Amino acid sequence: MNWGAILAPYAQVVEELKVKLKGIRSQFEYDSRHSPIEFIVGRVKPIPSILEKAESKQIPLENIEKHIQDIAGVRVVCQFVDDIYTIVDMLRTRKDLKIIEEKDYIARKKESGYRSYHMIIEYPVETIAGIKIVLAEIQIRTLAMNFWATNEHSLNYKYKGSIPTEIEKRLQRAAEAAFKLDEEMSKIMHEVQEAQRIFHRK
Ligand code: GTP
Ligand code: MG
Repeated sequence: MNWGAILAPYAQVVEELKVKLKGIRSQFEYDSRHSPIEFIVGRVKPIPSILEKAESKQIPLENIEKHIQDIAGVRVVCQFVDDIYTIVDMLRTRKDLKIIEEKDYIARKKESGYRSYHMIIEYPVETIAGIKIVLAEIQIRTLAMNFWATNEHSLNYKYKGSIPTEIEKRLQRAAEAAFKLDEEMSKIMHEVQEAQRIFHRK
């Protein structure tokens, strides 16, 4: 497999999506409006992870581009839960990408306690061989959800996917505490935004 050639368009997509999302953030900031985006990160799935996923999902290597939907991944992190839906609505109106799947793990959290909004998109990218339509995953979550997911991910890595029950339970409680934090922050969101607007103008 020529991984360099396969992954180059995905790297391009990750960079383009990051630029476009950062553009949204800047436009809000120019207007001195609360930006629904706190920060953006992106990555191309490392080759060993692609191979591992293909193996565990029994995906033949010639089908990975169709069946592994998160080779290109972008994560948008927000201050407030409402911001997530603002971004979702904005993405739904865009002409430069096509949403093919949406999963609201905020309305319905996962067993683990995981919360986030996921979108799988088709994104046309210009290559030297013409336009290629590439799949990408966009994860949208609050800072609190991100804090939880990052820690849970580390523990999953440490325990190779089988976290001890006691720690699993703690993680579920931590997930509820993170969600409670989001709920409480939502209640004072307008206060916080007003304060940040004043701060930003100075
Ligand atoms: P995948 O095989 O992972 O693609 O499963 P799926 O197609 O059912 O997708 P899902 O939306 O469940 O998860 C996609 C991505 O979301 C994962 O690769 C993780 O980045 C993230 N994710 C999903 N569940 C969890 C979780 O319980 N904990 C953490 N930390 N991240 C999760
Ligand atoms: Mg997936």
